[in-house]
Amino acid sequence: MQERLQKIIAGAGITSRRKAERIILEGRVTVNGQAVSKLGSKADPERDHIRVDGRLLTRTTEFVYLLLNKPVGYVSTVSDPQKRPTVISLVRGIKQRVYPVGRLDYHSSGLMILTNDGELANFLMSRASAVPRSYLVKLEGKPDPAGIAKLESGISLDGRRTEPCRIRPIGEGDKPWFAITLVEGRYHQVRRMFERIGQPVVKLKRVRIAFLTDKDLAPGRVRHLTHAEVERLKNWRAKDTAKGVED
Ligand code: URA
Repeated sequence: MQERLQKIIAGAGITSRRKAERIILEGRVTVNGQAVSKLGSKADPERDHIRVDGRLLTRTTEFVYLLLNKPVGYVSTVSDPQKRPTVISLVRGIKQRVYPVGRLDYHSSGLMILTNDGELANFLMSRASAVPRSYLVKLEGKPDPAGIAKLESGISLDGRRTEPCRIRPIGEGDKPWFAITLVEGRYHQVRRMFERIGQPVVKLKRVRIAFLTDKDLAPGRVRHLTHAEVERLKNWRAKDTAKGVED
């Protein structure tokens, strides 16, 4: 299949898309022996011989799967117009470019998967996979049980009902934390849900994605997922969610 050259070069893991464009414009790329210096040129990465500075590209099918414990104060995008630190700056020593799967707000912390495997990323973000994500939230006050029950059964957000979810208090006292497990990830969903019952979230931490937890993963640290973990994620089905992954 034909793809844009800059995409192929970036996909080979040697540089970013932007730098790949520069490399092409600088006339450092050949396709089957012919110099190509026009942006937008296409080639077939499976069939064509693409060379950068004379070096033959081998297509990276080497996927990387990382689990990050994001600290508060990082944006979960690859770059930020406001120049705030990004989660990508926490990933070191990996030559492939990885992308965050979904988002965690700047003020939220906790688990994020980063990968260059677009197929798995799309699957994990799809409604069909129904991968559960659990959050611990600290609220401004103490919500009344009727409010919690309402959130659990679903509310209308952006004209669509939220899926039923589980909410449990953690500990006692005036301002207990709550654990909430969602099977979807809509924009600022947790914050907006609790706001709806008059309880702004003051702290939010994602502590579980499917079966992955932050055990042994300090804030700011990244680890590779094991092969078994990746396979388990790829094969995640809604029925696994129904079985329950909570302790
Ligand atoms: N829901 C939110 O409101 N924020 C997050 O960061 C994650 C889920």
